[in-house]
Amino acid sequence: MPSRTRLIVDVDTGIDDSLALVYLAASADAEVVAVCCTAGNVPTAQVTRNTLAWLDMCGLSGVEVAVGADGPLVAPLMTTEDTHGPLGVGYAELPQSSRAVSTRSAAHAWVELARENPGELVGLVTGPMTNLALALRLEPELPTLLKRVVIMGGSFDHPGNTTPTSEWNVAVDPESAKEVFDAFESVPAGREPIVCALGLTERIEMHPAHVARLAEISGSVPVESLSIDDRGRRSQASVPIVRHLTDAVRFYMEFHHAQGEGYLAHMHDPFAAAVALHPEMAEYALATVDVELTGTLTRGTTVADRRGFWNRRPNAAIAVATDPEAFFDHLLETVGTFAATR
Ligand code: RIB
Ligand code: CA
Repeated sequence: MPSRTRLIVDVDTGIDDSLALVYLAASADAEVVAVCCTAGNVPTAQVTRNTLAWLDMCGLSGVEVAVGADGPLVAPLMTTEDTHGPLGVGYAELPQSSRAVSTRSAAHAWVELARENPGELVGLVTGPMTNLALALRLEPELPTLLKRVVIMGGSFDHPGNTTPTSEWNVAVDPESAKEVFDAFESVPAGREPIVCALGLTERIEMHPAHVARLAEISGSVPVESLSIDDRGRRSQASVPIVRHLTDAVRFYMEFHHAQGEGYLAHMHDPFAAAVALHPEMAEYALATVDVELTGTLTRGTTVADRRGFWNRRPNAAIAVATDPEAFFDHLLETVGTFAATR
């Protein structure tokens, strides 16, 4: 039996975080040890409700959910309901969980789980890095206690999605992102954080045909073909996970269409989750990454030194190439097969 990847997942459950959580639940080679919630796409309390709901739906109601920081280290909280919907899950109306959250904070969950499982846990961060930064303040040895960290965040040689040069997860909490990247300069070669940034994740385009294929694989009926002409239509899919994901993704596609990016959805977080389980899905370039904090126009911008100008150790393995369609084949088969059983 191949060993499973054991993960601490830190989310700002939004729409693509939702698909990432379902994908991990569906993955036989993944063990979600705990999920930590932070403010980002929506406030922390809503992130927590969304996360609990998806985990219940996926049969993971025994997985610890720890509530994290209500906001960034320094910056005032900004959220993005226009992107992910008023509740963070698009048009989906998720069955609310009745179970309690963890009695410990997200930062303490990071630290205590890493200390109890030295060298075994992969951290996956698909939201602002506030909780991870707070955990590093509690335990400076965290970078070497963790097996690896995979971060969805940043933008390198590519436009931002929050300012002209910054990506959302970093832009929400630039101070945390800087503290995280600085802390990981100490890790041994080969264990640099894997960074899935916009230059690659914006090539992970989910289209209506992918949503239809998900329904087909799961045996859900009817198989629905999403269209911009059906704004706000609610899914009638017979398989609950497919129905709720369809309602979530429809909103996300309408947002991207309104942004002029086409009727599609960039699936940043599921890609990062797949890379956490299968790093061979991408190619990487080492760099030293730092974060601009004081630029009038550039605050929140991630800067990658690939040529040693700063004379600092690499702290990032930036994912620079992948096969998007191979990723979707894997994602849809994994999630669709799982959804059929729920
Ligand atoms: O910039 C994209 C990232 O910001 C994704 O993780 C999305 O969920 C939002 O958190
Ligand atoms: Ca996210």
